[in-house]
Amino acid sequence: MSTLLSRRHVLVAPPALLAGGLLATRPALAQGPPAAARGAIRLAGNENPLGPGPAARAALAAAAGDAWKYPMGEEMALRAMIAEREGLTPAHVLLGAGSSEILHLAALVAGAGGGEMLTCAPTFDYAAGQVRAIGGQVRELPLDAAMRFDLPALRVAVSQATRLVYLCNPNNPTGTWLPGGDLRGFIAGLPQSVTVLVDEAYLELATDVAEHSMVDRVRAGDNVIVARTFSKLHGLAGLRIGYALARPDLAARLGQLRLVALCGPGLAAAAASYRDFDFQATSRRQIAEGVAITTAALDEIGRPHTDTRGNFVFFDTGAPVAAFLGAMRERGFSLGRPYAAYPNWCRVSMGTVAQMQQFTGALRAHFGA
Ligand SMILES: Cc1ncc(COP(=O)(O)O)c(C=O)c1O
Repeated sequence: MSTLLSRRHVLVAPPALLAGGLLATRPALAQGPPAAARGAIRLAGNENPLGPGPAARAALAAAAGDAWKYPMGEEMALRAMIAEREGLTPAHVLLGAGSSEILHLAALVAGAGGGEMLTCAPTFDYAAGQVRAIGGQVRELPLDAAMRFDLPALRVAVSQATRLVYLCNPNNPTGTWLPGGDLRGFIAGLPQSVTVLVDEAYLELATDVAEHSMVDRVRAGDNVIVARTFSKLHGLAGLRIGYALARPDLAARLGQLRLVALCGPGLAAAAASYRDFDFQATSRRQIAEGVAITTAALDEIGRPHTDTRGNFVFFDTGAPVAAFLGAMRERGFSLGRPYAAYPNWCRVSMGTVAQMQQFTGALRAHFGA
């Protein structure tokens, strides 16, 4: 994707802009991706190609006939279900159009009137972009030497201007993560005025969520917002359902800024998937198998990679990544974008097991292994 418009901007651009307005002045974008990328295997968006699971598919089909209704009951039902599992009340659960909307709402509150958000980079930069867009300040510290969020440095950097600290655990794009105990210590040491937004989009891809999630801090009444999504484990990225877990006053403050209710059939599919533990286990297995195939190939070829906890692998290609991305596109694979802090590193998202076997074949061929 061009540096002029990110993938996300293209996804949200109104059809009129895409058809003839803004993009008409940018011929390369108007023509779409290069020929080799069209029909390429998508290993770029940290999606889960196994989804939707069987229960979600059935719920989606069954809900189609109810699409004439406003989905008020469906929102309440999903909030109640999540609250019960998390040991919270429905007032602690705020739904959003993907967890992106949750990040957006937190960014609006933090950035209003020039407020500051503190984070590390590279990370998922949607919240930072939204803070900047409304005139707030973003301070980004480097990740530590192991490519993890640098909690000691963040603690020192918190100032009176800091309203929000954004932590991504596990972190996108590096896949690195911090144990729950470290995060709890960090949160306990912050001034009361600072809210911590913990993005747990990838945390539930493993099963020890309770140990590492900050939902216990929400239960304890701390100034913490946990963001989760149905886009990853559940493979429902196209339906745009995410949620926040936060103290009711915090959830209500963010909720005031929501645009509209979510899509009813999407909510029905999310609720069905939430109860579909077989599918969740299958998703986890497929992702783990994809990661094992990919990291084994990288080890064999001798390319360093992080120890990922995401549905993606971050690895060192050994040279500026643009040429590698181009070469892999020619071989039929669309991969993640470059990151300035790690110019030689590439993020590859997990596809199906068969796709990862194809990808590692292409990787071996590229590196002559
Ligand atoms: C860390 C992280 N948070 C949030 C999101 C947003 O996901 P969604 O809006 O689909 O829930 C992503 C998407 O890739 C992500 O990587």
